[in-house]
Amino acid sequence: MILRIIKHGEKVLRQPCEKVDYAAVKKDLPRLLRDMFQTMYSVRGVGLAAPQIGLNLRLSVIDVKPEGKSRRLVLINPEIVSKSGKLVQEEGCLSLPGVYAEVERWSHVAMKALDARGRPYEMTGEGLLARAFQHEVDHLNGKLFIDHLDFITKLKVMSAIKDVRKNWT
Ligand code: NI
Repeated sequence: MILRIIKHGEKVLRQPCEKVDYAAVKKDLPRLLRDMFQTMYSVRGVGLAAPQIGLNLRLSVIDVKPEGKSRRLVLINPEIVSKSGKLVQEEGCLSLPGVYAEVERWSHVAMKALDARGRPYEMTGEGLLARAFQHEVDHLNGKLFIDHLDFITKLKVMSAIKDVRKNWT
């Protein structure tokens, strides 16, 4: 099922999320994950966090399609365990459709989380994957990419948001 994506300005996006109790969500998780991936793919996203569908849970899905092939990642209670390098690249967010800005991120990141079956794993990422890890962990802390912008850029982006938000659904 394709779910509505919560947009910037709605409160749930700004609330730090609760840690997932895997045993408590286990039964509902397969359907929830299926819906999250379907919703994300329907708008050509590379990541979607639970608060973006109105759930206050430390859970995100990512698929940056390395080498053009789909690779579904499930991040439950993700934490960034190491990071290095800096990279400035344009970034967007499904909760701010039509809004893009250059954001400085760590270029290399190691992340640990639980997978869809509740098993701990650690994964290193660079480039777009490293950026997605950071963007998703930010979501779970109630943070959006526009929070990383300097004052002047943020003013410009806020005015762009005013223009595009009338097209948001
Ligand atoms: Ni986002």
